[in-house]
Amino acid sequence: MSGWHHRHILDLASFSRDDFASILELAQRFRSLPVTGVRKLPALQGRLVATLFFEPSTRTRSSFELAAKRLSADVMSFSPSSSSLSKGESVLDTARTYVAMGADVLVVRHRSTSVPQQLAADLDRLGERTVVLNGGDGLHSHPSQGLLDLLTLARHFDAQKPTPQALAGKKIVIVGDILHSRVARSNLWALTGCGADVVLCGPRSLLPEDFAAFVDAPPPGLSCDPVAQRGRVTVERRLEQALPGADAVMTLRLQKERMTQQLLTSLERYHRDYGLSHARLQLCGRQVPVLHPGPVNRGVEMTSRLLDDPSICLVEEQVRNGVPVRMALLYLMAAAESAAESSLVSISS
Ligand code: NCD
Repeated sequence: MSGWHHRHILDLASFSRDDFASILELAQRFRSLPVTGVRKLPALQGRLVATLFFEPSTRTRSSFELAAKRLSADVMSFSPSSSSLSKGESVLDTARTYVAMGADVLVVRHRSTSVPQQLAADLDRLGERTVVLNGGDGLHSHPSQGLLDLLTLARHFDAQKPTPQALAGKKIVIVGDILHSRVARSNLWALTGCGADVVLCGPRSLLPEDFAAFVDAPPPGLSCDPVAQRGRVTVERRLEQALPGADAVMTLRLQKERMTQQLLTSLERYHRDYGLSHARLQLCGRQVPVLHPGPVNRGVEMTSRLLDDPSICLVEEQVRNGVPVRMALLYLMAAAESAAESSLVSISS
């Protein structure tokens, strides 16, 4: 883990294959720790993690809070409705309140793109040591979700050794509302960064053609791509074209709250064209796993029967993997600041 150099974690575009390997390795170690007994590691004792979610969340926020607690950090959480945000306080001033109380890590979710990035830049400018972890910003990025999806897939392909190599050359189909999905964007960087080929599938209104070139340009703010050879990205309009030969399928929620105009004729039509079911998955040619970041619209993105079939649908596995992945992120951020790593080594050996 000595090569870890990210201070804030804002997106996955700047991650190298070694970075993905570090997260997978550490998350796999945290995942294998016994879940009985004390259940806690002392690695972040005395640290303070604040979750600042300006947008609703069920999984991400509770998963970060549990991850922080499993590492013995103190946790504070903020809810917009009962805070001074309703009195007009800005995001930066809200964050500074938590910084003043000693927060080491701020996990930030906001409906507007780039709020965590702006906050990280402001904290750096102010000389604060607090780091920012992006819990999802607008349509842009959701790094911890991309990483937990990566762990879920890597474990599916190689349960003993879930490394980036487990993904190399695999065909992963991502279906649905790609346009409004920060999860899809983070997965594009993570999956291609580990050498998987991604096929995007959806109607033109939810999947503009230029997504095929999404990972072609150097990531924003970087002069060159930290990954030497990425997997390819292609766009298919029809599931019948996208599914044959797939190794895994990820489907995404229709993000109605982010749609500014009528983009679909009807949900029934969408389900008919892009909804997943046991029958439809036969197009893959063999049994493949299905992922969804949740929350799921039952009967829209997939049938209820498929969602409730754990032999195919890995939604609960994704939720389970979220905790060790977020432990790994919090741990690496803290370790980058101190020699906390030695405490992990002594615990796990
Ligand atoms: C996603 C999100 O909020 O971006 N959910 C999540 O974090 N598990 C996807 C979604 O809301 O559809």
